[in-house]
Amino acid sequence: METLDKLTKRKDSSVEVPTSSKETAQKSTRKRGIEVPSARKLVLRDVGYPFRVKGDPKPMGLEVDSLELFADYAREQWMGTFVQEGTYLFDRYIMPDYAFQVQEVEPEQSVVSKSTKIILQSPTGSTSDVKTRSVNLEDVIGHEQVKQKCKIILEYLRQPSRFGEWAPRAVLFHGLPGTGKTMTAQAVANEADARIFLAKASDLIGVHVGDGGRRISALFDDARKHSPSIIFIDELDAIGLARSFQSIRGDVSEVVTALLGELDQTSEESGVVVIGATNALPLIDPAIKNRFDTVFEFSLPTVEERYDILRLYTERLPLKLEADLKEIARRTEGLSGRDLRDRILKESLHTAITDGASTITSEIVHRVLDKIQPKNRPTYTI
Ligand SMILES: Nc1ncnc2c1ncn2[C@@H]1O[C@H](COP(=O)(O)OP(=O)(O)OP(=O)(O)O)[C@@H](O)[C@H]1O
Ligand SMILES: [Mg+2]
Repeated sequence: METLDKLTKRKDSSVEVPTSSKETAQKSTRKRGIEVPSARKLVLRDVGYPFRVKGDPKPMGLEVDSLELFADYAREQWMGTFVQEGTYLFDRYIMPDYAFQVQEVEPEQSVVSKSTKIILQSPTGSTSDVKTRSVNLEDVIGHEQVKQKCKIILEYLRQPSRFGEWAPRAVLFHGLPGTGKTMTAQAVANEADARIFLAKASDLIGVHVGDGGRRISALFDDARKHSPSIIFIDELDAIGLARSFQSIRGDVSEVVTALLGELDQTSEESGVVVIGATNALPLIDPAIKNRFDTVFEFSLPTVEERYDILRLYTERLPLKLEADLKEIARRTEGLSGRDLRDRILKESLHTAITDGASTITSEIVHRVLDKIQPKNRPTYTI
């Protein structure tokens, strides 16, 4: 509802150009009969298009060469528009309907005028999807070796010059779904005082020939510009597909070539580390696999680790859980961390809520456990 309200502002805005629009440095204008001051400062964030055709990749953000020119362009087209925090403003000329959102405006409710200072927040091109879910390496249960290596990466990012030619360059996380690969990469991101560029491989493949290669180059360019930085490529198998599989997807070969070139270049310069993740190692092109220093296997949790994972997430449940976690851990061999959270704890919580129970009783948990069939897991998924 709120969003709808914000979106409709767009219509309002185009008609509310002050009558004396040539004298736009004026101090205020009228909105529904009320005096509205002109904005002194306006901070915008680029958001993207309101929708795209299913399957089309997400735009990777904007490349702005001159912030001053952008500010001029923005002022010109949104002159007279009423703005407040959260308002969406849509581009009309270069990329019609591309949206920007107001992050900050002074005074709180005002109108864009000739004297408004317009600032675009972090116009860093393909910094797509920088997430800051607050997990850190301590939240990752098990995977000690990986965490050790991640600490070295963190150390390197803090002091790249210390490592010289011995710098960690690229590591590959491989393992069954739900074993914590993405979570670990996010933890590294949160702990590193470095920029992280999170990219899903499927978003890097373009619609048109040449798009994919360009997107990869743009991603690495950005990372180099902002080094020290980490590039995390999730679901790497989507682009790192072995050549023998490439007849299925002809377009990936161009992407593979671009990725190889970029990976080679990162070896000669400091400050950029690549982390790739996949659950389909056999599908990955050997040439790409070779560019990674180490492949880490994310295995399923042991009984002790299952206990620790259950304990970690039980603390966050909104209802008290009255069951023996050790017993649950014993009965859940073969389940991943994600399974324990979603198929056991979440399912038990939902059952308790449906039953109208005030706690998650042992009986409820047993009912959920009885339903769990040991899964026939594929060795890898495509
Ligand atoms: N070792 C672990 N310690 C703590 N939580 C875990 C662990 N493994 C998985 N989880 C939980 O499961 C969730 C899913 O894990 P994650 O998304 O990292 O798996 P993944 O290995 O990237 O899976 P996929 O291959 O499907 O992408 C995590 O967000 C976390 O809540
Ligand atoms: Mg993942």
